[in-house]
Amino acid sequence: MKNWKKMFAGLVSAVLVVTMAACGGETASQVTDSSSPSSAVSEESSQSEAAVPAVEASQPEEASSVSSSSAPEHSRAEAPSEEAAVESSPAESASQPEEEPEQQPGGTLVVYFSATGNTQAVAETIADTLGADLYEIVPEEPYTDADLNWNDPDSRVNTEHEDPSARPAIAGGIPDLSSYDTIPIGYPLWWREAPPIVWNFVETADLAGKTMIPFCTSMSDGIGSSGDTLAGMAPNATWLAGQRFGENLDAASVTQWVQSLGLDAAA
Ligand SMILES: Cc1cc2nc3c(=O)[nH]c(=O)nc-3n(C[C@H](O)[C@H](O)[C@H](O)COP(=O)(O)O)c2cc1C
Repeated sequence: MKNWKKMFAGLVSAVLVVTMAACGGETASQVTDSSSPSSAVSEESSQSEAAVPAVEASQPEEASSVSSSSAPEHSRAEAPSEEAAVESSPAESASQPEEEPEQQPGGTLVVYFSATGNTQAVAETIADTLGADLYEIVPEEPYTDADLNWNDPDSRVNTEHEDPSARPAIAGGIPDLSSYDTIPIGYPLWWREAPPIVWNFVETADLAGKTMIPFCTSMSDGIGSSGDTLAGMAPNATWLAGQRFGENLDAASVTQWVQSLGLDAAA
């Protein structure tokens, strides 16, 4: 019996020891759970969470860089429209030949002579307004300032003015006028008339059937009978009343006059 009691007491002690040992382990594990390693895990977690948006934020950048690297694909996607634009160009160029006949007979050519630029400015304004072609009567021998000095009795202009047969040569000759039927013709007034080189043009060119519209620039005189003089040199043309402008371009008045003529811009 004593041995059994000792054995029982020993068994109980052993159980107690085991039980206490077990309780101590559980306490240790709880402290561990609430200890810094847990917060460390939490921090790691929060760090990783913070890092994720950063990564995610960087991912969109990567994605954008990817999309920018996919830009070529975008470009490729746009390529068809570019190709379409290219295709439309040939289509446009294909339609151009259809427009060309409109520039054939029936067109307007603005012809002018200008020694110092005043008439040229008017002529260019007329051509711009009408969308018309422009032709400058260029002397084979250009007029110098000395040539234009009317106060010098021996100057070129005075010499030509005193010779009724003087017809200064035109550089390049007379252009082909066959595709034009309306010709505004401009000049500076020299002694209230068109300069003799303009007479040369009107006498030499085939103006039969053309509608001629004189215009001039001058210091002070009106166009006077200078247009009638030209009409007498090319009676096979129809000559409309002329218009005088001042030495300094007044584009508005030029445009207003052109529009009053009622000419078709394409004509
Ligand atoms: C030789 C010569 C004769 C001129 N005769 C006249 C004239 O009779 N009446 C007039 O108002 N202006 C006269 N002028 C001035 C010009 O007609 C005027 O300056 C004109 O705008 C010049 O045009 P351009 O720059 O196109 O040559 C004459 C100019 C020159 C050089």
